[in-house]
Amino acid sequence: MENHLKIEFNKLLELASEEEIKVDFLKKLSELFPGEVIFSTSFSYEDQVVTHLIKDFDIDIFTLDTGRLFEQTYETWTASRAFFKKNIKAYYPDPEALQIFVSENGPDSFYQSVDQRKACCNIRKVQPLKQALKGYKVWITGLRSEHSVGRKQMPQLEWDADHQIIKFHPLLNWTTKQVEDYVQSHHLPYNYLHKKGFVSIGCAPCTRAIKEGEDFRAGRWWWEDADKKECGLHIHQ
Ligand code: ADX
Ligand code: SF4
Repeated sequence: MENHLKIEFNKLLELASEEEIKVDFLKKLSELFPGEVIFSTSFSYEDQVVTHLIKDFDIDIFTLDTGRLFEQTYETWTASRAFFKKNIKAYYPDPEALQIFVSENGPDSFYQSVDQRKACCNIRKVQPLKQALKGYKVWITGLRSEHSVGRKQMPQLEWDADHQIIKFHPLLNWTTKQVEDYVQSHHLPYNYLHKKGFVSIGCAPCTRAIKEGEDFRAGRWWWEDADKKECGLHIHQ
């Protein structure tokens, strides 16, 4: 049976004509769902742009601290707190689950198999994400269609059946250049790894710089097949 929020989502889809699904749709969402809209940041270029776009709206922000992030990501987090003056709520893996997993498999078992990698992502990202989204009706992300083949087909406004939440991707159709120009022209703090060949930045042991011409996500879980490169945060039906 369709739940109440799914019905609200369908109404929202009708309301959001092609013209309206632009950045100012963020404001509309914050007014339609006061206190129930949340944005997830990994402090990427894209996420810095979204943070800037929403800073004056009633939209909460969270980050998932996996415990394995780059030092530069923590520095960007610190700089972002000072710059945007918005509270950024941090979520952590369940200590007991993590303790058992690392004790049994070692600290870097993600290199051994896709199953081990997914288990680590599940403990460090997917389960904390569930906690972060609790009580919210709309989840904003920094996803862009240029990121990967899978993300090309994504609708900008979608129903996430897995998390039972409305999902909105304000920068879905932005180009890399648009994102970079926005960061530069607004003097936003950014992760310095972006200047060192890192394009998509996740956990330190699972991210490396890419060479010119390589895919946007080629530096993520580079030892795995391209079709397995999702950590489970974003599942598309
Ligand atoms: S991932 O699924 O491969 O890890 P990606 O790095 O492309 O995701 O980021 C896409 C979006 O997912 C970001 O714009 C952000 O909204 C969310 N996201 C990714 N990592 C995190 C994180 N550690 N904390 C919070 N949100 C995140
Ligand atoms: Fe673990 Fe790597 Fe996934 Fe981070 S990206 S949660 S370190 S497997």
